[in-house]
Amino acid sequence: MAQIKSTLASLASLAILLLPSSVSALAFEGAVGFGSKATGGTTSFAVTTLADSGTGSFRDAVSESGRNITFSVSGYIVLETPVSLSSDLTINGQTAPSPGIGVMGREISASGKTNIIVRNLRMRQGTEETDDGKSAFNMGDASNVILDHCSLEYGVFDTVDAVGAVNVTVSNSIIALPIGQQFGAHLETGPSTWYANLWVSAHNRQPLSKANTQYINNVAYNYQAGYTVANTGGVFSHDIINNYFIAGPSTTSASDDYFQIDDNQSVFATGNLLDSNKDGVLNGAAANTVGSAQVLDSPWASTSLSIVGSLTAAEAYASVIANAGASPRDEVDAFVVSTVESLGTEGAIITNQDSTGLSNDGYGTL
Ligand SMILES: *[C@@H]1O[C@H](CO)[C@@H](O)[C@H](O)[C@H]1NC(C)=O
Ligand SMILES: *[C@@H]1O[C@H](CO)[C@@H](O)[C@H](O)[C@H]1NC(C)=O
Ligand SMILES: *[C@@H]1O[C@H](CO)[C@@H](O)[C@H](O)[C@H]1NC(C)=O
Repeated sequence: MAQIKSTLASLASLAILLLPSSVSALAFEGAVGFGSKATGGTTSFAVTTLADSGTGSFRDAVSESGRNITFSVSGYIVLETPVSLSSDLTINGQTAPSPGIGVMGREISASGKTNIIVRNLRMRQGTEETDDGKSAFNMGDASNVILDHCSLEYGVFDTVDAVGAVNVTVSNSIIALPIGQQFGAHLETGPSTWYANLWVSAHNRQPLSKANTQYINNVAYNYQAGYTVANTGGVFSHDIINNYFIAGPSTTSASDDYFQIDDNQSVFATGNLLDSNKDGVLNGAAANTVGSAQVLDSPWASTSLSIVGSLTAAEAYASVIANAGASPRDEVDAFVVSTVESLGTEGAIITNQDSTGLSNDGYGTL
């Protein structure tokens, strides 16, 4: 009996030892939020060609689950058809030689899949996309997905379409210059985390979140409507902390930083700033009244205050300007960031990447 008791006791202490490590396992060092527990793949696989398909292509790499994908080539992969990811994948765009790796022309989809990590990948549909119902990255009803340090420009339907997605993080990424519906991101399930992203020159949906959401340390520039719920959205909770909204030439009403947020919503909003005057200087004022939402005194999500760390909105602006998007920063991202740094005087909502005036018909040269 004593022996059984001591066995039980050691099993219990083993469980206590195991618990913290399984709870704290992260997709990568510094991963935050609801997608941060994705573990991705472990079987090494190298992309060795920029070809659309065939042995060693990106399409080949993502066709089997369990892979941890690296790149020995750099440049654009010109997609001829959409690419569907498998489950249990890690895509390490940062392993590509400088100037890095990107896809153009078609959608990447994680729809229906689970456990995916994507880092340092450029995803640019542009006018080469032939299906106006496709997005730069489609999370469909995927779960446990984290996009980090990605650059998503020239999206056609949504930039990130995540209507049915569960446990999602998009962090340290650029979501800019959507050309079709001119939308950022769309969620209806969640929960999701949007951390330290740079949202630039979209008509709306930065994001549209009919879901429980963490929105922390983002910068939204030259928006027509910023953080949106839509008044038919149902009952959700939102932690909106230390973000910077900055009006630009296309901003028709700066007070649409929060858009269509009704009293069905519960919001914890603190430390947010709005720079509405388009004067070329970063000089925002407090912007923590979020539509007619119910005011929460503390975050709905237990991790929100630890994610925000100590970055104020102004510090988040500096950090996002310096670090957001795929590394190294390429021609398109540099252009996007430079419009933001004009602080009100530059930027346009566009319908064709060519109107940026950048090389390679506006896709930029990688
Ligand atoms: C996946 O590949 C990256 C890049 O080579 C490496 O840093 C990482 O440790 C690998 N992860 C796993 C789980 O094998
Ligand atoms: C989402 O994450 C929670 C908390 O880790 C987990 O309990 C739940 O099963 C996840 N949902 C899916 C669909 O993976
Ligand atoms: C509030 O939520 C309820 C329940 O989901 C819904 O029936 C109602 O239409 C919502 N009201 C608004 C103004 O969105």
